[in-house]
Amino acid sequence: MIETGKKLRRLSACVGLLSLVVLAATCAPQDKTIRIGVFSSLTGNTATFGISSKYGIQMAADEWNSRGGLLGKPIELIIEDDQSKPEEAALAITKLINQNKVSAILGEIASSRTLAGAPIAQRAGIPLITPASTNPKVTKVGDFIFRVCYTDSFQGVVCARFAVQKLGLKRLAILKDIKNDYSIGLADYFRQNVQALGAQIVTEESYSEGDTDFRAQITSMKAANPEGIFIPGYYTEAGLIAKQVAEQNLNVRLIGGDGWDSPRTVEIGGAAVEGAFFCNHYSAEDTARLVQDFVAMFKKKHNEVPDAMAPLSYDAANLLFAAIQSAGSAEGHAIRDAIASTKDFPGVCGSITIDAERNARKSAIMLQISGGKLKKYDVIYP
Ligand code: PHE
Repeated sequence: MIETGKKLRRLSACVGLLSLVVLAATCAPQDKTIRIGVFSSLTGNTATFGISSKYGIQMAADEWNSRGGLLGKPIELIIEDDQSKPEEAALAITKLINQNKVSAILGEIASSRTLAGAPIAQRAGIPLITPASTNPKVTKVGDFIFRVCYTDSFQGVVCARFAVQKLGLKRLAILKDIKNDYSIGLADYFRQNVQALGAQIVTEESYSEGDTDFRAQITSMKAANPEGIFIPGYYTEAGLIAKQVAEQNLNVRLIGGDGWDSPRTVEIGGAAVEGAFFCNHYSAEDTARLVQDFVAMFKKKHNEVPDAMAPLSYDAANLLFAAIQSAGSAEGHAIRDAIASTKDFPGVCGSITIDAERNARKSAIMLQISGGKLKKYDVIYP
């Protein structure tokens, strides 16, 4: 009797433990919240990209949560810092998927980092939307990978036409970051289009992210006698390059891509970036109601004018949340299909229709740095 009693007690203890385990498994956190992963460069070389992007995503999640969340549950953002490194971006995505069991992922800004993470999301069947990675290879990774911005095949045309047709430049140099997929790709599209327009690339020089001394490249460019330099890189190096170009008295037009967009460009470049142009995704000066509302909201929260990463990320998050809502499910395939069928979604950075290649057709805005501020110079429609 005593023996059986002991056995029974042991058995019920086992059953108790087992049911706890089962309960824990079925009550996984994703059942109480909709878990969304974010991988972002909150520190490192391009920290302003990640911080600004995070602010935009948080604003969107806060708004949805104040309206009751998604599918009756609050949105929970799980934000991983990739330190501005592709290897860390891959680790961040792996953690978000395997450990945090997120339903979908937002990020990255830099193409090289999105390219490092996207194959992992694709294999796991977790949809990923990049707010700002423009390299064409990004969405080619697979049918779970989307973007809400234009691609560099368009940005390259815009910059080339601007340099050759608007500014009338006939002799152009390129200075690109050889370690950066975005920079290499955009340089290629720029070169092809400049040549197609009958102008000349007189020299093409390169550097690696993190470099601080560009004097050798500038000396070579000077010898080739260009009228303008195209710098498809990120803000830290672009600002330094501009300064060293001025120090070497190379009097040329400077043109950049969207990678120049950061408050740090003007801080680093100072007088040397005055008058320079760069291609972007939005202008804070745009009088459209969506833009002005967003800028006002952002200023109230963060006390500064948002760069393009904030509204692009806000748009990507809103589009994702709307897709989950319309899918009526937080399951990967259902979300994927809903994102893929997005049409005329009203974003701060323009209306978004996801095409068959999972890209968006958007306008480009040419900005000019003037008085240390970004002035809207031209809008180029696709
Ligand atoms: N387009 C850049 C890339 O693909 C990232 C970027 C977007 C940077 C917008 C600044 C502003 O790497």
